[in-house]
Amino acid sequence: MGKSRFHWMCFPLSRLTSSFRRCPLSKRTLIIASICAVYLVFVVSQVGYSQQHRDRQTERDKYRHTRGLDHLDVSDAAAETGASFALPTRSNVVYITLKSKRLKPSNIRGTIRPKLRTKVRRNKPANPAFTQNKLGTLERDAGRSKRNVASKTSPRESRDIDYKSLDVIPKSHADAHADSRISSIRIYSQRAPPWFSSQDVRAMRFLADAKVLLIKKVSRGDSPPLLIFEGETSVSVSQQKHAARVDSVCGGQCGVISSPVDTTEVFAFHLDRVLGLNRTLPAVSRTFSLLHDGQPCPVVSWDASLYPGGLAAGRSTVRLTWGEYQSSLKQRCWHKNISPKPDSGCSTVHHYEWSKLALFDFLLQIHNRLDQSCCGFRPRREDVCLELGHHADCGNQNHIQLTNIIHRGHDPRHLVFTNNKGFFDRNEDNLDFQLLEGIKELPEQAVSVLRSRRLREKLLQSLFLDQTYWESQGGRQGIDKLIDVLERRAKVLLTYINAHGIKVVTMNV
Ligand SMILES: *[C@@H]1O[C@H](CO)[C@@H](O)[C@H](O)[C@H]1NC(C)=O
Repeated sequence: MGKSRFHWMCFPLSRLTSSFRRCPLSKRTLIIASICAVYLVFVVSQVGYSQQHRDRQTERDKYRHTRGLDHLDVSDAAAETGASFALPTRSNVVYITLKSKRLKPSNIRGTIRPKLRTKVRRNKPANPAFTQNKLGTLERDAGRSKRNVASKTSPRESRDIDYKSLDVIPKSHADAHADSRISSIRIYSQRAPPWFSSQDVRAMRFLADAKVLLIKKVSRGDSPPLLIFEGETSVSVSQQKHAARVDSVCGGQCGVISSPVDTTEVFAFHLDRVLGLNRTLPAVSRTFSLLHDGQPCPVVSWDASLYPGGLAAGRSTVRLTWGEYQSSLKQRCWHKNISPKPDSGCSTVHHYEWSKLALFDFLLQIHNRLDQSCCGFRPRREDVCLELGHHADCGNQNHIQLTNIIHRGHDPRHLVFTNNKGFFDRNEDNLDFQLLEGIKELPEQAVSVLRSRRLREKLLQSLFLDQTYWESQGGRQGIDKLIDVLERRAKVLLTYINAHGIKVVTMNV
C-alpha cells in the first residue's frame, strides 16, 4: 500500500526528469536559471517584508520613548497608528558635531541676530513704552475677537495690584503648536541630558507646549507689569482651584512672559544647569501669536514662593549694600552650618551662594545684581546705569545697594537667579571684574566643566533642546557665536583663578 503510494507520487516526477534530460543543454540551463530567479524574488520579498515590519516596530518604540518622557503620552493614539507619520520633521538620531561646517544647513526661518545691546534699554521700568504698546495691541485684539476681557481687583491683595485677564487663546488656531503633536522641546533619545532633572524637563515641556488657557497682565504699583500665562496641565488642577484663581496670581501652572529682547534668560537657564548650579528657574522660548508680533519670547516658570507675602509685597529680596556684602564675604556666613553672631552683619544667605552667583554673573556679564551702577567696566552711552545716572555713585561704592538678590521665603539660605540680563557683546578687555571682588572660592563642579573643554559640546546639546530658541538665534551658527563668547570668558576666568589663588571647592549645600 505504502509502496504503491510512493510510486504514484514519484511517477510525474520521474516523467518530468526524463523529459528534462531529453531537452537540449541550452534549454535546460534556461529552465534552471528561471527557477533560481523566481526563488530569489521570493526570498527577497520575504526578507524585505519582515525588515519593514521590524523597522516600523522600532520606530513606534522610539516614538514612545521620546514622547513618553513626561509620562503623559505613552498611550497616544498616534503611536498606535504608525509613528512614522507622527514625527515627520525629525529623524531619530541627531549628531551634534563640534565642527559647524559638517552640519547640514538647517531650515532657519528667522535668522535675525538679536540686538543684544538694546536689551536693557527697552525693558527698563523707566521706559515701559515698548511693553505697554504691545499690551495695548493685545487688549485691542482681544476686544476685537469679541472675547471676554475682564478686569478684576483681588480683594485679598492690596489695591495697586490689578489683574487683567485676557481670554485670548482658547480654541483658536492661533497658537498652532499648542495643538500640534510635535513638542518644540527636542529630545531624541530616551533621556534628556543628565544636567536636567525630570522636573526641569516637565517644566520646559509645559512652558513650550501647554495650551494657553489665559494670559493675565498684572500691574504692581510702579514695578513693570507682569505678563503671566496659565497653561493647561495634564491634571485638571485649574478646574479644582477655579475659585482660588480669582484671588491668586496663578491657579494652576503658569509662566511669566518676558520681552523678546530678553533672550539671554533662556541661555542663562541652560548655562546654569550645564554648570550644575541649579539656581535659575526653567525658561524656554515661545511664540504667542497675539504678543510682540509673534516673535519668540522667553517664558520663565512662575514660582509663587518668590512672593511669600503676595505679589503686592514684592519678591523676597536680600537687602545689602556693597560694603555690607563685602564684609559678609569675610565672615563666611553660615559656612559649616555655624550660625553667625548677631553683630556679624551676615544676611540669611549661605557663603557659597555668592561664589555661585559671582561665577555665573561673570560668565554672562550680568551686572544688575552686584554692580548695578556699572562701576567695574566702561559702560556705553546707551547703558541704563549711565542713563539713570547711577555711574556717578561709584565714587562712594560702599553705599550702593545690591539689587535683584532674590531668595525663596521658605529657603532663605539659597539664592534664586532671576532677571538674568546678560551681555554677549562686551569685549574681553572690558569685562566686569568687580563681580568677582571678595570671592575667594569657586564651585568645583562648575569650574571642572569650564576646565574640561566640554563646555561647547554640553551647551550645544542643551540649547538644541529648545528649537524655538535655537532657530531664533540663527541656528547652529548663531549659537556657536554665543558659545565663542562664553568660552573666551571661561578662559579669562580660569586665568583669574590661577593668578589670584582662588580655591576651587565642592559646594553641595
Ligand atoms: C534644584 O533646585 C530645585 C529648586 O530649589 C530643587 O527642588 C531641586 O531638588 C534641585 N535639584 C538638584 C539636583 O539639586
